[in-house]
Amino acid sequence: MSLASKTFSPQDNGDCKTLHNGNGVDPSQTPLMDRETLQEQFEVSEEFGFAAKYPLVTLPEYFQPWTDIAVNLQQLIEQKKIREAVDKLPLLDHNRLATKAEWCVAHMFLAYIAQGYVWQDGEEGITKVLPKNIAIPFHACSEKLKIPANFNQFNSVLVNWKLKDHNQGFTVENMDTIITLIGGDDEVWFFMTAFMVEKACGPALYAIADAQQAVSYQDDSKLESALRVIEEAVHEMVVQLNRMGDGNNPSTFYNVLRPFIAGWNAPAFKEKGLDGLIYEGVSDKPVSYPGGTAAESATLPALDAALGISHRSEDEILCEDFKKYMPPKHREFLIAITKGPSIRKYVLSKENPDLTAAYNGCLEVVKLFRNTHLQVVTRYIVLPSRQSTSGQGKGLVGTGGTGFMQFLKGLRDSTLQAFIGKDSHHTPATDGFKNKITSFRFLTIAGVISVTGAICLALFRKYH
Ligand code: HEM
Repeated sequence: MSLASKTFSPQDNGDCKTLHNGNGVDPSQTPLMDRETLQEQFEVSEEFGFAAKYPLVTLPEYFQPWTDIAVNLQQLIEQKKIREAVDKLPLLDHNRLATKAEWCVAHMFLAYIAQGYVWQDGEEGITKVLPKNIAIPFHACSEKLKIPANFNQFNSVLVNWKLKDHNQGFTVENMDTIITLIGGDDEVWFFMTAFMVEKACGPALYAIADAQQAVSYQDDSKLESALRVIEEAVHEMVVQLNRMGDGNNPSTFYNVLRPFIAGWNAPAFKEKGLDGLIYEGVSDKPVSYPGGTAAESATLPALDAALGISHRSEDEILCEDFKKYMPPKHREFLIAITKGPSIRKYVLSKENPDLTAAYNGCLEVVKLFRNTHLQVVTRYIVLPSRQSTSGQGKGLVGTGGTGFMQFLKGLRDSTLQAFIGKDSHHTPATDGFKNKITSFRFLTIAGVISVTGAICLALFRKYH
């Protein structure tokens, strides 16, 4: 039977086993996403993706005691004086934060201060308790914004960016963080590369809404165009990710920054028999939040949901866990995608070679992103850990708390599984180029071996 003759229900969410519908919601009642309302409904923009649009950079005068510490973190950490400074803080009234933008800045400042406070004296000197001067307002910000009170992708990237020069464009060179932890150009480069990746995803998020509308109206040409936009945007995410090495030294990242962005689930806590950190004045029970990780970015989950990439259940559990650290509107956006019409199932049902190629083109770039990311992780964690004497390499756990290589490879492999038809063996342009280089190398080496062999044989014959 020809697949083309299959009937397709546009609101049928298809075969993505973990992300889609088993939630009792009647898909026919799910409204389609509309690009005109995405910003208002889900706080995503075509220009910045999930990152905030020009976030606020300061707090009102009343909160100056927090600001004084937040903007001087590097110095306070270097002089090991951050605990002293925090212990002297008055307990400020968080209810004087007036707008959502102010609550966001406060969440960011307090998250950074907490990291400095806990890790100032390294793994050996961690604290068991976060003092109430910051624990109470940090918890209040978390309740208000519905994002856990920890250092995460939201407060280190999505709301922590500004342009160095407003007359210049968006390049990682022209980006700055609002505050830094231990400072240094490498830290700024690390977080601003992540920002550039988030920003590059913006057009893809809008194209997902377009693509689902196209599926609903069975408009193949609109769907193909939308898929091409997704492919182009994800390709740009790869370009931006590839810039990591231009300004962030792996050894500085591994030995200087990484220990400070670890969370309360880090091995250092477990080794001391601690189940996490106690937020004084909030609860006597410790919390074991993860540290900063872009696994909390909604970018890849949005692409997975849109393209119907389903992961192994053990990986899916981790992915779901990371979603807890995303802003609520972004989580809602992910749910809206999964409830929307299945692009994958539609493409499968149509057997249209152009549509299949456009769909597989999207998978190619997601695969490329995940492969590039694996290389980055190898360069920034795996290799430096082998040279480390600090013991940081123990068990190689990500700042998000995962035994990450298996997890990351699992996600890459499930991307491979999603390819449709014979195109699944299709070689992308970039891989083709790599293959050409590899074959060229192979031919050169083979040539050198043959010539050397021939010379040896000739010499052997001559002298024997
Ligand atoms: C030095 C640079 C980086 C390192 C060392 C790194 C490391 C890691 C690690 C270890 C994980 C596993 C989760 C965990 O335990 O934390 C992870 C996940 C992830 N990271 Fe990165 N990362 C880097 C840069 C980035 C950037 C710039 C992005 C882009 C926003 C990114 C996006 C992701 C995503 C989306 C995941 C979830 C896995 C997936 O969906 O494929 N990472 N990263």
